[in-house]
Amino acid sequence: MRYERMAIEIESPEQMGYGSITCNLTESSVADATLASLGLGDLGPQLAELTLAYGDHVGHPGLREVLAADPGAGAVRPGDVLVTPGAAGALFIISTALLSPGSHVVVAAPNYATNIVTPRAIGADLELLELRYEDGYRLDLDRLASMIRPDTAFVSLTCPHNPTGTMLTLDEIDAVIGLVEARGTRLVLDETYRDMGRPEPLSLGAGRSPAVISVSSMSKSYGIPGIRLGWLMTADPALQELFLAAKEQMVIGNSLIDEEIAFQVLRRRDHLLPAIRAVIGAHREIVTRWMRGEPALEWVEPTGGVVCFPRIRDEASVDVEAFYGILTRNHRTFVGPGHWFEQPRAHFRLGYGWPDTPELEDGLANISASLSAARV
Ligand SMILES: Cc1ncc(COP(=O)(O)O)c(C=O)c1O
Repeated sequence: MRYERMAIEIESPEQMGYGSITCNLTESSVADATLASLGLGDLGPQLAELTLAYGDHVGHPGLREVLAADPGAGAVRPGDVLVTPGAAGALFIISTALLSPGSHVVVAAPNYATNIVTPRAIGADLELLELRYEDGYRLDLDRLASMIRPDTAFVSLTCPHNPTGTMLTLDEIDAVIGLVEARGTRLVLDETYRDMGRPEPLSLGAGRSPAVISVSSMSKSYGIPGIRLGWLMTADPALQELFLAAKEQMVIGNSLIDEEIAFQVLRRRDHLLPAIRAVIGAHREIVTRWMRGEPALEWVEPTGGVVCFPRIRDEASVDVEAFYGILTRNHRTFVGPGHWFEQPRAHFRLGYGWPDTPELEDGLANISASLSAARV
């Protein structure tokens, strides 16, 4: 493995220091939660009684049952779920288990950095399936078909997408499934933002075919990335065994405390999600209205998740570096610059689910003021 730190992690708000930021529009999750804010303020005594043994290596049985009982789970059974340290852990397990130097893999780009960086660190033969602004970031199925080779280890897609907030349709997912099944390869579907899909969360990829490996976590839709709790799902028993071997070599099992918290939160999912989704919807409206009135920016309107990826129009004559300088130094407002996603810095990721409404509105006004001030 050739490890290199990723810009998105080096420059993340938690590494920069939250105290240096007034308006934080970098995040890709809803607001960070506490147990109390999730209605679990009295979980403390239960956690205090928990015997802190090694747990089930596959993962908390109740948690796997709740995940398999999701209304969109389709054919997914509790035994198809492997609990992991975050979606990041799941992606690492999948890449290290299925790839070796020279393995061919097709990954959508832009993407959440790990989806690209881990195959690269392994030395895989990584082919990027470019999603283009001009195409509305839509998947070009013919191009994908032409990239798959007899030895392609997997195709990797993210839906809802980071950083653009666009979504595949179920028909598109089914078409990709048909393709990977016909070519004897697999689809790794990063569904970390699934519960924030619109109009409703899509059904789970792994429930639609044994050729799909689904990945998700508690981090984004529930605002609890600090418990480092995610999972992968596959209905292929041989793969499940392989991924368990990888997990056991990495961490043996998960933190029992993290698993218990995730279990309790997911049991309350039907109660918690409507309120979370209502805030996201209201904030998306605010951003949409602001974008309509901001002549220096253009975007592909997001359809899911809590991020979007606007870009500074060429004809707006904005000095991009001056824009970031003014935004961060004068306004202490942070967005995710394009280089976090190996894209031009005229793009930036704007996260609208994490700040409260006044912070979001102030942040958007600061972006507009900085764009004006950076005109040449
Ligand atoms: C698409 C995607 N996948 C996976 C992750 C990793 O999330 P976590 O490990 O916190 O579950 C992220 C985090 O930003 C992401 O955006």
